Amino acid sequence: MIKVITYGTYDMLHYGHTRLLQRAKLLGDYLIVGVTSDDYDKTRGKINNQQSLMERIEAVKNTGFADEIIVEEYEGQKIDDIKRLGVDIFTVGSDWEGHFDYLNEYCKVIYLPRTDGISSSLVRAEKRKLGIGITGFTAFVKKFIDEAKFVNGVNITGVYAPGMNDMLKDKDLFFAGSYDELLEKSDAVCVVSKPEKHYSDIMTALHAGKHVICESPVAMSAEECTELFRTAKERGLILMDAIKTAYSTAYSRLVLLAKSGKIGHIVSVDSVCTSLTDIEADPSERWNTICEWGPLGMLPVMQILGTDYSRKVFFTKFTDRNSNTDAFTKIDFVYPSAVASVKVAKAAKSEGTLIVTGTEGYIYVPAPWWKTDYFEVRYENQEKNSRFFYQLEGEGIRYEIVTFAKSVELLKWDGGISESESEAIAGVIGDFNERKDMIEFS
Ligand code: CTP
Repeated sequence: MIKVITYGTYDMLHYGHTRLLQRAKLLGDYLIVGVTSDDYDKTRGKINNQQSLMERIEAVKNTGFADEIIVEEYEGQKIDDIKRLGVDIFTVGSDWEGHFDYLNEYCKVIYLPRTDGISSSLVRAEKRKLGIGITGFTAFVKKFIDEAKFVNGVNITGVYAPGMNDMLKDKDLFFAGSYDELLEKSDAVCVVSKPEKHYSDIMTALHAGKHVICESPVAMSAEECTELFRTAKERGLILMDAIKTAYSTAYSRLVLLAKSGKIGHIVSVDSVCTSLTDIEADPSERWNTICEWGPLGMLPVMQILGTDYSRKVFFTKFTDRNSNTDAFTKIDFVYPSAVASVKVAKAAKSEGTLIVTGTEGYIYVPAPWWKTDYFEVRYENQEKNSRFFYQLEGEGIRYEIVTFAKSVELLKWDGGISESESEAIAGVIGDFNERKDMIEFS
């Protein structure tokens, strides 16, 4: 009996896949199909899969060509499988020509001609056509445009970023003359304008029937934030808070791990985010520290300890009290059985770590924790320590865009930051603006 093996993602199964499987089966008597796991796909930069592993396996099964289906989970597994399953022929499409020649040592390698004119990427792009416009004035606009290129079916319709056109002139973009013109040309809008403008920019977009992804904070108070989410819901639109770290694999895994009890009962979350940046920049576009770093700093606090804190205190040093520009702010939160501290600054520098303290151990994320692909779980007995690595591409922005596009498609929240977390963050910003619970120092 001749055993043949082939591997693939098989997302949104199309006739290119079916033809490949049909010809692979004809190469022998028994066909094994390796379907890639979601995690493995992520590590090799495939972030756009529309279907879950189970759905993809089901689709391969329904072609009727596979005698056996296995899951491919790690680099180097092909050699293990070929040896373990007694495979005679390894085959894949010609887009991989030469790539798997090293397997000749274990079995025969055959590249089958790839079917022209079809791919999962194309099917996804056809299915999902989401035109996103961008409004705002920060370096994030540039990054968002670059990262959107990695997301199937998403295209940037243009920008409305007065004052930034020069910076973006090499990008071959449509520069809208007004916000309304941008909205007209788009299905959705990415709002990175000054935080004070978020409420009106989002409301205008929602009333124009457009989905919104907004650089956090969504609004300057909990009430405004609630109203925006209510309006989005009433109109059947998606409103999503954009803190890129919330969409990165390492960060989401550490939150789950912290909540799973692996370090015991959590007693403290301490996060630090600082930079020495444009505190002197044009005040009409400047983000103060609490808006620029605050939402990110609060993210692990709200996601690990929840949004129901009982008390909080701000310790703030202002550079310009009149415009609410803080150089440094520390927020201490008190929960019924835990505490948290968030230290943020744009005119002071510190180590940007995240530490989650538990009764049995702690999670340590090295600086800059918000861009991390790595964290450690540490115990008194160091032999128990473990390290976790996860691929991080594009600082998490491209995962954020994937999640947004998926949410729009499903018309429901598909992960990331929940509405109540956004509201809690906006609530803290609101209290800061009112100088509630604040101790100032000079
Ligand atoms: N394949 C093929 N012809 C196509 C598309 C895929 O023969 N038009 C083959 C690939 O060479 C591979 C298998 O089908 O052997 C599974 O490919 P997969 O990566 O899942 O499909 P793609 O459509 O190429 O996916 P993507 O667009 O996400 O890269």
